[in-house]
Amino acid sequence: MHWVSAKRTTVNWFACWSTPWPGQWSRRCRLDRGLAMRTKKIDRLSEDAIHRLVDDFYAKIRVDPDLGPVFARAIPGDWGPHLATMRNFWSSVMLTTGRYKGNPVTVHHRVDGIELDLFDRWLALFEQTCGELFDDNLANAFHAKAARIAESLKLALFYRPDRPWPRRTS
Ligand code: HEM
Repeated sequence: MHWVSAKRTTVNWFACWSTPWPGQWSRRCRLDRGLAMRTKKIDRLSEDAIHRLVDDFYAKIRVDPDLGPVFARAIPGDWGPHLATMRNFWSSVMLTTGRYKGNPVTVHHRVDGIELDLFDRWLALFEQTCGELFDDNLANAFHAKAARIAESLKLALFYRPDRPWPRRTS
């Protein structure tokens, strides 16, 4: 008798978790899937992945104490066109779609307040965003491209033949 009730208790504990009452199963499935979707990192390069990256990265940029004001001056109104340009840019870089037709060097020459030191912050935020969204392989692929482009942008904007490179800033 004792054994039966002990066994029942065990079975019942297990049943609490594994055998849902009607309606509970699908609710728990949805909850678990929702959690998994939020925590599972993106492992496949796609336009959708680029969309997420651009949205999340520029959300961070906009509230950053150093970079935020530089961007706010350059883009005082609607951010829609800039985000679309950046999606095209990353699509061209990572998926070679050719969707971006601009010239980043010319555009950055016009950015009021852009400084050599800010590139480290830009890259740190970019790396952080990639790490939050993507698995290691994909995050590293994006970050490696960004670091190479940042280096060539820095050279194009700040290199002077009469100064050592990297320029000493302190
Ligand atoms: C200190 C670092 C940076 C700052 C402050 C900065 C700032 C900006 C700003 C303000 C714009 C908008 C300009 C406008 O629409 O008038 C812009 C555009 C852009 N940025 Fe940056 N940027 C930085 C680094 C980078 C890096 C490292 C990349 C690439 C990896 C990049 C890629 C671009 C591209 C593709 C555009 C769009 C250019 C176009 O309109 O065709 N930027 N940036």
